[in-house]
Amino acid sequence: MRLFIANWKMNLSYDEVQSIVLKHKEEMIKLAYQADIAVCPSYESIALMTRAFKDTVVKIGAQGCSVYERGSYTGEVSAFSLAQAGCQYAIVGHNERRQLFHETNEIIEKKVTLLLQAGICPVICIGETEEEREEGRVLEALENQLHFLKNIVAAGIVVAYEPVWAIGHGRTPSNPQLEKVFIWLQEYMQPYKKSAVITLIYGGSVDEESIKMLSLISAIEGFLIGGASTNFEKFKKIVLLGIQ
Ligand code: PGA
Repeated sequence: MRLFIANWKMNLSYDEVQSIVLKHKEEMIKLAYQADIAVCPSYESIALMTRAFKDTVVKIGAQGCSVYERGSYTGEVSAFSLAQAGCQYAIVGHNERRQLFHETNEIIEKKVTLLLQAGICPVICIGETEEEREEGRVLEALENQLHFLKNIVAAGIVVAYEPVWAIGHGRTPSNPQLEKVFIWLQEYMQPYKKSAVITLIYGGSVDEESIKMLSLISAIEGFLIGGASTNFEKFKKIVLLGIQ
């Protein structure tokens, strides 16, 4: 089954999350019997979501975690607490974190390590900038962001290919471009597959239209959906069109 991860970013308030749960909980559960579904609200809404979907097939994730394990780090949230709150996934290395909050590959490696120790599956986002694309350095950029995996022992990880220029811009790579990247990713991740479950997904302007073409690429094992996932009807459409 393909994996569909909703990244709500900071686009929904606590009240808005509560009203989505009230209105769409049953449908969301139904949908999660047809595809693997994980929803990532912002921190303050995690407990509300994990309580609402406890003992159901809908999984809840976080949009990050602290680079520290525990201690006096005002404003931070630890991977271990997230696990206790019921998170099964956490997004790391998202371009918005890399660009706006200076999340480096080194920081991402530390977060991935802590998440795995806590039993949370990291969703590691990678992707080239427009400039790197124009200079023909896509695979080089991805390799640079994945390099730290050689230091990691994991049972399962998700790698989300999200070209920076595609996120939130209504643009997606062509199918041949995506096929090339995913075939490369499959090969690159091959050594890790011996000991871990690796899921390769795509993100960046996935909506009810773009999913029609994207879903044709069999190497894509799921999707990370930002803007369109905050509207349940749109998210449901994407899932139903994107099921393999
Ligand atoms: P988008 O965001 O679907 O709004 O482009 C994707 C993401 O940032 O994960």
